[in-house]
This record gives sequence, structure tokens and C-alpha cells, in this order.
Amino acid sequence: MNMNIAFIGFGTVGQGLAKMLNEKKAHLKSEYGFEYKVVGIVDLVKGSVYSQDGIDLGKILSICEKKGKIGEEKISSIELIKKDCVDAIIEVTPTNLKDGEPGMSHMKEALKNGKHVVTTNKGPIALAYKELKKIAEENGAFLKFEGTVLSGTPAINLATMDLAGVSIKSIEGILNGTTNYILTEIEKGKSYEEVLKKAQNLGYAEADPTADVEGYDALAKIVILAKTVMNGDINIKDVPREGITEIKKEKVESAIKNGKKMKLIARAWREGNKIMAKVSPEEISTEHPLANVNGVLNAITFTTDVAGEITIIGPGAGGSSAGYALLTDLLSIHRMKNFD
Ligand code: HSE
Repeated sequence: MNMNIAFIGFGTVGQGLAKMLNEKKAHLKSEYGFEYKVVGIVDLVKGSVYSQDGIDLGKILSICEKKGKIGEEKISSIELIKKDCVDAIIEVTPTNLKDGEPGMSHMKEALKNGKHVVTTNKGPIALAYKELKKIAEENGAFLKFEGTVLSGTPAINLATMDLAGVSIKSIEGILNGTTNYILTEIEKGKSYEEVLKKAQNLGYAEADPTADVEGYDALAKIVILAKTVMNGDINIKDVPREGITEIKKEKVESAIKNGKKMKLIARAWREGNKIMAKVSPEEISTEHPLANVNGVLNAITFTTDVAGEITIIGPGAGGSSAGYALLTDLLSIHRMKNFD
């Protein structure tokens, strides 16, 4: 099957996927029978390109690196999504947790038109997962969002596919790479400002890093997990949240003196028929499975009814990891379509 792909957004994450698609083209065809054509890219800052015959990704990536621009084509994201030749969109515009825009409109437009959506954009999934899923099902399209949580480290697909049949009783995790990186570097004696800058340069932080340090990013991720793997009816506004901006160096050092570690922990659990969640900095014992998850690594422990506690650890941010999450979702759609 040949999949025609359109990129809506072409920042660190989109370019991460583009590099992989380009470098692994032959491997993807020979190992998985997956063939693709990128027919368009629209980015608010970098411009746009469109060709239904396919775009040379290597060339675009190199132009983008040299000039910070990709092209002058006058095509909007919605126009590109509606093009008949587009089978799937890669929605990687910046996350907005207030109304999910512009990603929300992009996803709805694509799904309504029977086009698959693959995304790392947390806003629309955290705010409107059930609605988007319904539109996808009604129109025979797939909605895939593995990279919204734990980036390229399996979390959503692990819980929904590999762990199919279990009931997840609770979730405990370190879900934000930027803050975990900052806390780890502060432990080594670095200053908050210095390491936040570095996290931005490494491509870990959100476009507006307030979302990371104030805990909103981890909040969006625990809500996505609660909704998608625990079937929770939970509203982002109702979840208590605290970030790390009040965590000074002294608190990190005092935790270590007490044989503990300071971590930003996100939790979701069942209370009767309800799913509850919260995000807050916690001092955890060094014996705790999450205590030695350092730097940009993230982790989740799923407590299940019949399979015990299952913990997964891996990178939680960065262009390559997030780009890989998009690739795994594209391959998953390819597998499911071949199953039809
Ligand atoms: N800013 C996010 C983080 C990126 O630091 O975890 C991945 O969602």
C-alpha cells in the first residue's frame, strides 16, 4: 500500500519523522511493505510546499536546515488536508490545552473526510478524545496518538494493545522530560535557569516552556492516559496540578539528604466508578521504581488486575523519539489497513 502523507506543522517533531521516513525508506518498504509519498507540508513559520507527485524530503530537510523556510506555495493547512490525494495527516502543530486549536480543527477536518490522523499534539486528545474517536469511527479513519505520552517509548499502544484484556487499576509516572531533566541537573548543582535553556535547545521543552515547568504538559498526559487506557470520564480542569517552579535547589538537596528524590509525579486511580488524577512534585524514596528515572527519561507503572505491576522506562521528549512515535503509528495504520 502506498500512503500519501501531509505534514501539518514542521517543527522539531515533524522534521524528526521526516528524517526517519527519508533515511528508512528502503527498509520500510522491504521489511513492512510500507511505501509512502509526502504530498504536502504546511508550517505557519516555515511556509508550505505541495505536489501530488510527491516531495523530495531530503531536499526539503536540507533547505529547511539552511534557510529556516521550506517553500512559498500558497496553500493553507485546511486546503492541504482536503486535497483528494491526501490519505493521512501528521498533525504536529503546537499543543494548546485551552481549546486544542489549531490542531482540533485540523484533526476534525481530516477525520470527517476519512483521512487518518497521526499526532503528538496533546491538546485535542486531552480535551476531546471521545468526540474525535467517534468522528474517526464514523468515517472509517484511524486516529493514532502514541507520541502524546512518553514520546517514542510505548505507552498508549502498550496499554491498549499489548495489555488488552487487563483492567488498569492505577497509573503512576514521570511524564514530562523537561522537568525531569531540570530536576536531575539541579541535583548535580546546576541552576534552574541554565538547565531550562538547555532543555529548550535540546528540543525537549514545549514551544512555551511554562507548560512543562507548571505541570500542564504532565497534566495533559495523565488525562490522556486516564481517558484512553482507563476509559475515564475526566476533565482537564478538574485535575489538581502543581509544577516545579517553586522547587528550589535547597528542596532538591534536602530530599537527597533525607535519602529521597524530588520528582514530578502524575497519578491516576479508580475511586468507585470514577477515575481521579493529579500532578505534583513528590519526595519519593530512593527504593521507589521511579527514583532512578533521570534526565529526559520518563516512566510509567501500570498496576493491573491480572498482570501485576508493569513499568516502562524510556525517553519522554526530543525530536527523534517523538518522530519515532509518529512512525510507529503510521506502521500500525499500514498493518491495520492490510488486515481489512
Ligand atoms: N515538552 C514535553 C516534555 C515534550 O518535556 O516531556 C514531550 O511531550
